[in-house]
Amino acid sequence: MFPLQRGRRLRTNESIRSIVRETSLSAADFMFPMFITEGENYKSEISSMPGIFRRSIDLTVTEVLELFDLGIRAVNIYVKVNDDLKDNTGKEAWNDNGLMQQAIKAIKNACPGMIVMPDVALDPYSIYGHDGIIENGDIENDKTNEALVKMAVSHAKAGADFVAPSDMMDGRILRLRQGLDAAGFQNVGIMSYSAKYASAFYGPFRDALDSAPKTATIEVPKDKKTYQMDYANRIEAIKEALYDVEEGADIVMVKPGIAYLDIVREVKNAVNIPVAVFHVSGEYAMIKAAAEKGWLDHDKIMMEQLMCIKRAGATLISTYFAKEAALLLK
Ligand code: PBG
Repeated sequence: MFPLQRGRRLRTNESIRSIVRETSLSAADFMFPMFITEGENYKSEISSMPGIFRRSIDLTVTEVLELFDLGIRAVNIYVKVNDDLKDNTGKEAWNDNGLMQQAIKAIKNACPGMIVMPDVALDPYSIYGHDGIIENGDIENDKTNEALVKMAVSHAKAGADFVAPSDMMDGRILRLRQGLDAAGFQNVGIMSYSAKYASAFYGPFRDALDSAPKTATIEVPKDKKTYQMDYANRIEAIKEALYDVEEGADIVMVKPGIAYLDIVREVKNAVNIPVAVFHVSGEYAMIKAAAEKGWLDHDKIMMEQLMCIKRAGATLISTYFAKEAALLLK
């Protein structure tokens, strides 16, 4: 009690603050999401995500080597495939020679130490921009799971260290674990997007991959709310995370980040495996836009958000700021 206790004593100067600091950040806390596209020596900036590019495989590899030098040890990869490869089955997703599979091979070949986590979801391959196969106006859960298993096994064959299912189908972690094991990939891990909310913060990502739900000649859901979670819910996130642990997930994820840190903490307290947080495209875009206007200090806001995500319970953070933050930490 005051005056015996004075909290400010521990905040007197930076040295004192540094010895009592409870949380720290390092480059190995980050995963970098990367967008890959067809072509050679090609990159194009995503207009709603300044500083973030779609790159051809060769330029992706160059970037991966730079990230590794900075201490970043994991990348989450997403592909933008040509429209003529899209249909309602998503079958291009398990083409062993597809863009994703080639990208995985190229990255692992050039930088074996980089942990490669391809996205497992059908939306980049769906003509309707949905994460599953559509029948009678809805996503067919179990058929979608079968497709996801083929996709994940194909990623594993290409050399993926982890697969990262982001689709929110029921039971997909169990099916993926069984499928990977049956194909001999017991050591390929699963990072599950366990509590993934139906969020407007994904807008810029959908620009990057041109993967927003589309109108169509058949009846299709207009949004992803029948599979991604309602952002009004908390207990449901814990349920989803616990199911995924039981089904064999190695890492669970909460997504988005900053507006969901209560969920991060609760999931962290509920599970005994690492918790990842996805600091998503819209969160990146907001900081970039405000900084461009001179309304916020870019670097300070970036580091504050990343530190707060870690403090909330993140073991690792998928963030488009990974490279900038790693540079700053260096
Ligand atoms: C798609 C997927 C999305 C993101 C990661 N995987 C978008 C969506 O569900 O529509 C969002 C990532 C971001 O916004 O940065 N399966």
